[in-house]
Amino acid sequence: MSAQRKDDHVRLAIEQQHTHRGVNQFDEVSFVHHALAGIDRPQVSLGTSFAGVTWPVPVYINAMTGGSEKTGVINRDLATAAAETGVPIASGSMNAYFKDPSCAHTFQVLREHNPDGFVIANVNATASVENVWRALELLRANALQIHINTAQETAMPEGDRSFGSWAPQIEKIAAAVDVPVIVKEVGNGLSRQTVAQLKDLGVAAADVSGRGGTDFARIENGRRELGEYAFLNGWGQSAAACLLDAGGTGLPLLASGGVRHPLDVARALALGARAVGSSGGFLRTLLDGGVPALVAQLQTWLDQLAALQTMLGAATPADLTGCDVLIEGSLREFCADRGID
Ligand code: FNR
Repeated sequence: MSAQRKDDHVRLAIEQQHTHRGVNQFDEVSFVHHALAGIDRPQVSLGTSFAGVTWPVPVYINAMTGGSEKTGVINRDLATAAAETGVPIASGSMNAYFKDPSCAHTFQVLREHNPDGFVIANVNATASVENVWRALELLRANALQIHINTAQETAMPEGDRSFGSWAPQIEKIAAAVDVPVIVKEVGNGLSRQTVAQLKDLGVAAADVSGRGGTDFARIENGRRELGEYAFLNGWGQSAAACLLDAGGTGLPLLASGGVRHPLDVARALALGARAVGSSGGFLRTLLDGGVPALVAQLQTWLDQLAALQTMLGAATPADLTGCDVLIEGSLREFCADRGID
């Protein structure tokens, strides 16, 4: 069941990449052009840091998969691309491994094919502390992601309907592991209130993973005969909205959800993200063109991000937060409603 679900998720996420593009609020964020702001390319670095983590680049391959033979091959190929480019990478939910340890190899490839890279293990918010330790050990993981996905679970035919234990369990896990803990959504966003709660629970960072890219309610509706929860499609807030909303909470933020190109990366960094992830888009590239295509895409993104930083006068990704940015349209209305200057 679990292996079939993992294959379904990949198939439907790719279908979505081809047929469905959500409203993307990154289009409502633009840089004010200052024609003499530019610096010299050698002055620019791509390094970023947050919560004691230092990455050579501010782009990462976000959580996706593992748990079936097919998705094990995908993980192997994602890990190979990560190793060639130095881009950090997260596993998919390791719940499948907790239920059936015989699929361990479909996750282990992330470390085997990326021995020196930054690898993040991904679990859900009901994982026991013992299982979290097993996951970290299996991948020799450098960090932990805990995903929170109430909209997905609600739309999922076999989904969880008990969410009350999630916050206390996150707190328990955060206190029990010695790697940084990042809590992430899966494409519906994290509000200011949620991020403030996460800070109180002792997590190190939050990945807002907002609306506008892969839509898991839509995916789960695609796995239902009648798509009964179609009204949840498009639920939540975009990554841009979340960064603006939760920027003042003091918890380091990462951004993902609907990131399409290096300009979206720069926009998210300018809105305060310490690093920016993509899942569905990178998966599409991999399945269309194999490892060489994904390596080329990652290298192009990093090159073009450095070019944008050069033009905008930002020596580091963090310096992009000093750039003048215009917020328009529905995102501007969101800011007004939420009392954001
Ligand atoms: C995901 N995502 C995800 N997230 C997570 O925390 N655990 C998981 O197991 C998965 N599984 C998964 C499978 C597939 C096929 C995709 C495409 C995505 C969600 C992912 O990490 C991210 O939050 C969302 O996909 C939004 O980013 P994009 O796809 O719009 O870049």
